[in-house]
Amino acid sequence: MNRLEGKTALITGAASGIGRAQALLFAREGAAVVAADLNGDGAEQVVSEIEAAGGIGLAVKMDVSDNESVRAAVETAVSRFGRIDILSNTAGAFDQYRQTLDTPRELWDKLIAVNLTSLYLVTNAALPHDHRVANFHSTEVPLDIRPQHSDTDLMRV
Ligand SMILES: NC(=O)c1ccc[n+]([C@@H]2O[C@H](COP(=O)([O-])OP(=O)(O)OC[C@H]3O[C@@H](n4cnc5c(N)ncnc54)[C@H](O)[C@@H]3O)[C@@H](O)[C@H]2O)c1
Repeated sequence: MNRLEGKTALITGAASGIGRAQALLFAREGAAVVAADLNGDGAEQVVSEIEAAGGIGLAVKMDVSDNESVRAAVETAVSRFGRIDILSNTAGAFDQYRQTLDTPRELWDKLIAVNLTSLYLVTNAALPHDHRVANFHSTEVPLDIRPQHSDTDLMRV
């Protein structure tokens, strides 16, 4: 239906699962999709599918827990499309349910960085490129991350 015609959507975790499904759907709706993932080959594969269906896509390798990686990927996206209208913070990593005593501190820190701090890093990098970013993230993260200067829409999915 082309409800996203003219929009640019940056989707993290786009190589698989929920992010991949979003990437394909948003592209079908007319958005230019930036498929961002630590799995760069997987992101490329999704963009190939988007392009084969006549859509517009760009694959970027991004580690959502690493600020430099996030900033570089956002710059690549903005230099190609000029703006970001939709941000989907979908990348996530989950190991397995463990007892606290079986959870090494390194694993705890990694899970917090990938699943929580990433929202802060990616949103902060993307917002300056447009002040009307629609931000999707899991309700598992009980944070309202709207910056005060922005009229950003926050949608919980
Ligand atoms: N599938 C569900 O039912 C469900 C339900 C609630 C919440 N979630 C959460 O939603 C998120 C996505 O779920 P999914 O089922 O699509 O998972 P998935 O494992 O299929 O996809 C996650 C994607 O994130 C990418 N990723 C992992 N670490 C990354 C990093 N550091 N930087 C960039 N990309 C990285 C992976 O490469 C992968 O492509 C996860 O955080 C998950 O916990 C999933």
